Amino acid sequence: MIDVTSELAALRDRVTGWKRAGQQVAFVPTMGNLHAGHFSLVELARRHADRVVASVFVNPTQFGPNEDFSRYPRTPEADTAGLDAAGCDLLWLPSVETMYPFGVEATVRIGVPGVTETLEGAHRPGHFEGVATVVARLFNQVQPDVAVFGRKDYQQLAVIRYMVRDLAFPVEIIAADTRREADGLAMSSRNQYLSAEERPVAAEINRCLQSMREGVRAGRPREQVESEAASRLSGAGFAVDYAVVRDRELGLPATGHGPRVALVAARLGRTRLIDNLEFEA
Ligand code: PAF
Repeated sequence: MIDVTSELAALRDRVTGWKRAGQQVAFVPTMGNLHAGHFSLVELARRHADRVVASVFVNPTQFGPNEDFSRYPRTPEADTAGLDAAGCDLLWLPSVETMYPFGVEATVRIGVPGVTETLEGAHRPGHFEGVATVVARLFNQVQPDVAVFGRKDYQQLAVIRYMVRDLAFPVEIIAADTRREADGLAMSSRNQYLSAEERPVAAEINRCLQSMREGVRAGRPREQVESEAASRLSGAGFAVDYAVVRDRELGLPATGHGPRVALVAARLGRTRLIDNLEFEA
């Protein structure tokens, strides 16, 4: 049966006890409103450790002023039941005061250079600073041996890896594959904002990523592949933030063969969706 706590001392006691008994502890940070994608992260965490801690914290510092912080869905009962069924041992539910004891405005912030300056970082100023800031705190609170992050947030994963290496966090980062609906739409808590008319259209993002991959593999110029993808998405009703092909470090790829990632961020009505596809060119 899952344990739930909002007390830092209780969290520390549990984790310290497990570690003293020689058990490995895995961690899955979330913002709640959990779906099958999150539960698959917990299952992956289980395979890498004896104990799994998950957190639910809707982090105010990673939302911009016009983003969906206040309307972000909060479903604590369903989250707890789902985590229990997925094999999570402990749910960490910190308050804003526990997370930011000096207040959100006066908190120590963590800025990650380079990788945060493009794509999501350019379209959501301050977002990755908020993510790095909260994940560093969560790591200090939970003190896990391993932590699991989804590949759907490709750039977030790169930011976390950079921070872990640069700040020497003793945490191994594990990347989990994206879970998809039957029509290819990447699972996301934000999918529930989509109207009945928008929902089938949203799957166009994944189809578009696949045709970007085919275009690159066929040797077509990257710029052409990107502009065709953006036009295709606009034609389907999206407002496109970006549709790009990058190397795996998110730099402009060299010509020729090699590892690539196609990334899309686009809004359908009021819902902003992101997705990506890693492939070999
Ligand atoms: O990916 C998320 O849900 C969030 O960005 C995270 C990592 C839990 C930090 O708030």
